[in-house]
Amino acid sequence: MKKVDVLLGLQWGDEGKGKIVDVLSPKYDLIARFQGGPNAGHTLEFEGKKFVLNTIPSGIFNPKTMNLIGNGVVIDPIILKRELDNLKKAGHDPVADGKLVIARKAHLILPTHQMLDAANEAKMGKNKIGSTLKGIGPTYMDKTGRNGLRVGDTTLPDFKERYEKLVEKHNEILSHFDFDYDLKEKEAAFFEAIEFLKTIPHVDSEHFVNKYLSEGKNVLAEGAQGTLLDVDFGSYPFVTSSNTTTAGACTGLGVAPNNIGEVFGIFKAYCTRVGGGPFPTELNDEVGENLRQIGHEFGATTGRSRRCGWIDLPALKYAIMLNGVTELIMMKADVLDGFDDIYVCTHYEYDGKTIDYMPYDIISIEPKPVLKKVEGWKTNVTKITAVDQIPEKLKSYISYLETELKVPIKYLSVGPDRAQTLILS
Ligand code: GDP
Ligand code: IMO
Ligand code: MG
Repeated sequence: MKKVDVLLGLQWGDEGKGKIVDVLSPKYDLIARFQGGPNAGHTLEFEGKKFVLNTIPSGIFNPKTMNLIGNGVVIDPIILKRELDNLKKAGHDPVADGKLVIARKAHLILPTHQMLDAANEAKMGKNKIGSTLKGIGPTYMDKTGRNGLRVGDTTLPDFKERYEKLVEKHNEILSHFDFDYDLKEKEAAFFEAIEFLKTIPHVDSEHFVNKYLSEGKNVLAEGAQGTLLDVDFGSYPFVTSSNTTTAGACTGLGVAPNNIGEVFGIFKAYCTRVGGGPFPTELNDEVGENLRQIGHEFGATTGRSRRCGWIDLPALKYAIMLNGVTELIMMKADVLDGFDDIYVCTHYEYDGKTIDYMPYDIISIEPKPVLKKVEGWKTNVTKITAVDQIPEKLKSYISYLETELKVPIKYLSVGPDRAQTLILS
């Protein structure tokens, strides 16, 4: 029996998961998304082309790899249809090629879930989460509240009635908000997309994945968002509504914990966050602006500016512990190419003490980062293709991080393209 490898983000999302899943996909027979929904934006670049995937797993560009949207994912049929239509225009048709299947147990995002998301956020004003407004929170609330609609329900004769019952409940809630909305157009697009959704094979992800494993095939679970956005362990309430950690791969696909294999933890050589909430190492200065401009730190889904700061070791150690990370992947090292000095947050000054862990409350008591200076390598690394071309100072940055984090860094990414990836060991 094979085990499922997992690839997930160790920071606040946008670490470069899409790129690395694409790079690793030739080694895998199946790539499976296990949580989140179209709040994700996973960017892939190769052969001069760029794609952003929201719901579709990042293995679809590999001719031999099957892709599964797992039961833990929430699906907006309109967005999924648009994603597939756009891919088709670019010459890729994973549905016709038989390379995409969806879990029957995955929940559906309704147009009213989006309205609820927007109404909630508007009401919170400056305390808003800064959600992607894709309806993620309300959909997971209906899932755990046992009201949700699932992909498998779309083929039932009374699907329309079930839909109307849920929308009635949503309308009742929305009537308490000062929020204008018009469902008509969205509803027509929703039902058109539901018909399209029915043309994609529906599977029971638990049986589907376990069959791959028992046949000795290789499976990679693709995370969305990042560990610090996990609903249990992230910077609550400024989090998403799913478990973004390794445990989420078990519940989001139907894999037993003892069938988890390697866990690839991916992080940027610095740190970013989009939306509201605490960010101890954030740089609200020229340095932060430089990171944003050089790293093109603008959201793949919403286009919003990403907040930027230095790498945060207490947060990374926490994420490594929660996920059982076995191999690290460092992204966007090239963004630091021009910096004379780079800083690493090694500890926090917190409530009068120096600590090296992530405390419970980082909102009312702000941790102040204790920074260690590291000399920059001042070399363009975007074209390097072999380990022996890595500048010495970047090598020492890597080995310093490995010593601190106690997990080897297996891959180094030096640019957005598939080819700009080095295997370190
Ligand atoms: P994901 O959500 O984790 O898949 O990451 P995103 O796609 O949202 O954000 C990562 C961004 O960084 C994308 O624009 C990628 O094309 C880009 N990217 C990925 N790896 C690298 C890298 O090593 N260097 C640079 N400069 N950009 C990268
Ligand atoms: P990928 O997979 C970065 C953030 C939002 C907001 C919070 C809650 O591309 O890394 P939600 O819409 O989930 O209710 O928003 O989570 N967020 C992300 N930030 N990358 C993502 O996905 C994100 N998905 C959600 O900005 O702060
Ligand atoms: Mg992203």
